[in-house]
Amino acid sequence: MDSQVVVIENLKKYFHTKRGPVKAVDGVNLRVGAGEIFGFLGPNGAGKTTTLRILTTLLVPDSGDARIAGFDVKKHPDQVRLHIGYVSQVGGADRPATGLENLILQGQLYGMTTPTARARAQELIRLLDLSEFADRIVYTYSGGQRRRLDVALGLMNRPTILFLDEPTTGLDPQNRANLWTQIQKLRQEGTTIFLTTHYLDEADTLCDHIAIMDDGHIVAEGIPADLKKQVAGDCITIGMEHPAEKAPKLISLLQKADFMREVKLDDNHMRLYVTDGVQAISEVLRLFGQEGVPMENITLSAPSLDDVFLRQTGHSLRDINAQGGNV
Ligand SMILES: Nc1ncnc2c1ncn2[C@@H]1O[C@H](COP(=O)(O)OP(=O)(O)OP(=O)(O)O)[C@@H](O)[C@H]1O
Ligand SMILES: [Mg+2]
Repeated sequence: MDSQVVVIENLKKYFHTKRGPVKAVDGVNLRVGAGEIFGFLGPNGAGKTTTLRILTTLLVPDSGDARIAGFDVKKHPDQVRLHIGYVSQVGGADRPATGLENLILQGQLYGMTTPTARARAQELIRLLDLSEFADRIVYTYSGGQRRRLDVALGLMNRPTILFLDEPTTGLDPQNRANLWTQIQKLRQEGTTIFLTTHYLDEADTLCDHIAIMDDGHIVAEGIPADLKKQVAGDCITIGMEHPAEKAPKLISLLQKADFMREVKLDDNHMRLYVTDGVQAISEVLRLFGQEGVPMENITLSAPSLDDVFLRQTGHSLRDINAQGGNV
């Protein structure tokens, strides 16, 4: 098989609504290699789920091509389905049965005999540490337990690639870390993972390769460490209202400083990308003092994926997530 499990070329999907067309996926190109944990990072409405639904044959694109494990999603959807597992944003466990029964039923839906389905279910129960609760009715599960069962359901047919739509949204930090460990285990077993997330730390820590999506487009793609290196230097973030209006003279002084690479402003922050953060911060504080400009807070950090996003789109993923309210 090709070493590329996912190949997407100029993929487009527009939805026609009363308010006009929504360009949910607007010319996406992407390749995901075998054995990767690939992460699709982006704010609400970016087009992540729509892309995933096209790749899993649940939605037909308007134009462009997508191939999964060498099979075209439009021409050979049945072949594609044989090679994939899909865990949707809402999950798929059938509540009135036990975890084990849900797994066996899923296997039967894939055409397995009951003994084969049972054997595969037992294997996944071991692999994903479900044994403590696999014999309980699913509606008694915690959110984390349910999510782990959802992942197991997606793996019943031994897929080449597993698609996970926001696998950890709504989980507490311990359950998130637990699921990350399970996902890493799956990769070790040879499964390619394609997940979507809003979480910067998830993309950064868990994923080998990421694409950042915004408004139907991929705005950055690569290995997280490489993407962060593109944002050279350190970042000094200063909390203050309307910096562009309140401190034009200070901004022009900062722009002339030796250490300054780039200044980014929004309504509530001034972000300074600088060569040596520790040295620069004392000079920044001195200039604020000299100009009598008040600040609410100041932080120094190494560049994050949020800085990559900010650089490409002009807005912060953190702020969008905070406004969207579901992170
Ligand atoms: N069936 C549909 N009809 C009309 N518009 C749709 C439909 N499905 C999605 N959209 C719109 O397409 C855009 C992309 O939605 P999508 O669900 O792909 O985003 P997402 O990145 O998964 O967001 P989230 O992080 O909130 O899950 C949004 O503006 C959404 O409202
Ligand atoms: Mg979504």
